[in-house]
Amino acid sequence: DDMEYNKICEKHKHLIETLPKGNGWRVQHLYNYNGFWLPPMIIKNNLLIHTYFKSQPTDIYLASFMKSGNTWLKALMFSTLNRHRYTFSNHFLHKHNPHSAFPFLEFLSYPVTGFTVPRLFATHSARTLLPDCMSSGRFVYVCRDPKDVLVSKWLFMSRLRAKDLPPLSLEDAFELFCRGVSEYGPYWEHVMSYWRANLEYPDKILFVKYEEVKKHPEVVVRKLAAFMGKPITEEEEEKGVVREIVKLCSFENLSNLDVNKNGVEKFGDMVEVENHTYFRKGEIGDWKNYLSEEMKERVDRITYEKLRGSGLIL
Ligand code: A3P
Repeated sequence: DDMEYNKICEKHKHLIETLPKGNGWRVQHLYNYNGFWLPPMIIKNNLLIHTYFKSQPTDIYLASFMKSGNTWLKALMFSTLNRHRYTFSNHFLHKHNPHSAFPFLEFLSYPVTGFTVPRLFATHSARTLLPDCMSSGRFVYVCRDPKDVLVSKWLFMSRLRAKDLPPLSLEDAFELFCRGVSEYGPYWEHVMSYWRANLEYPDKILFVKYEEVKKHPEVVVRKLAAFMGKPITEEEEEKGVVREIVKLCSFENLSNLDVNKNGVEKFGDMVEVENHTYFRKGEIGDWKNYLSEEMKERVDRITYEKLRGSGLIL
C-alpha cells in the first residue's frame, strides 16, 4: 500500500545519503549496499523485492553476474521448460529477445501477476541480497571467466553509459573491476555468494559455466531439463529435441533474427537496450584482444585468492 511504499522511498533516500559511494560504469555513482555495488535504482528495487516479492516453492531463478551468459541461459531455460508449448519452426524466440522470455526480479512491477507455474525469474543480485524465502525455489547460476566478463561488461556498459559522463577507459574499468567496483560487484563475492548457497543446498542450485555451455551445450540442456523438473525423455532424444533447443538458442541463430538485430528491450522505465548489444562475439578468451599479460595475471591472482579452498574453479 501507499504507506509501505512511502516508507521504502524514505529508507532509500536515507541509504543514498549515507552509503559509501563509488564510480559507476553506466551511471555516475554506485553505492555499497550490504557489500555490493549497486546503482541507486537497484537499491530501491531491492527494498521493493524484500517487501513485495512472494516466492513460491516452484519458482526457478536464473542468477548471474552481468555478461556471464545470462541472455543465452534465458533462451535455453525458457525453450527447454516450454518445449511443449512451441514448435521449433514457429517459436516465441523467433520474434522476441530472450530477455522478454522472463523478467529480472530487479525490474518487476508489483504485484506479480500473469505467470504460469513454474515461474521463471532472472536476477543479477548476489544471493545474500535476496530474501531468504527464495531458498525454497531453485537457482541456476551461470558464471564465466572473469577476464571475459570484464571485457564484455566494459564494452557493453560503454555503449549504455550516460552521454553526459566522460567515457570510461579500459584501464579505469580494469582498476575498478579488480577493486570490486562495478554494477552488482565485486564479481568474486557475487560468485561466492551462490557457491556457498550451493554447498548448503546442493539440490537447489545448479552451477553452470559459460565455457561448459560453449563446449557441451547438449549436456547442459539435459541438465537444465532435469533440474527444472522436466527431464528429456527417450522419445525426445530420438526426435532430436535437445539438438533443436541448442540450435534455436545458438549465437548464430539468435543474433541473426530480425528482433535481435533491430529490436529494443526495456528494463523498468529507465533503461533501454538495443537487442544487438547482447550479441557481440560469444567466444571464450576474447579478453586476449584487450588485456595485457600483467592485467591477466592480476585478475587470475585475485580469482585464485578469493576462491582458494572453496572447491570452485573458474
Ligand atoms: P561477449 O561480449 O564476450 O561476446 P549476458 O547475456 O550475460 O549479458 O552476456 C553477454 C555475453 O554473452 C556476450 O559476450 C554475448 O556475445 C554472449 N552471448 C549472448 N548470446 C549468446 C549465445 N546464444 N551463445 C553464446 N554467447 C552468447
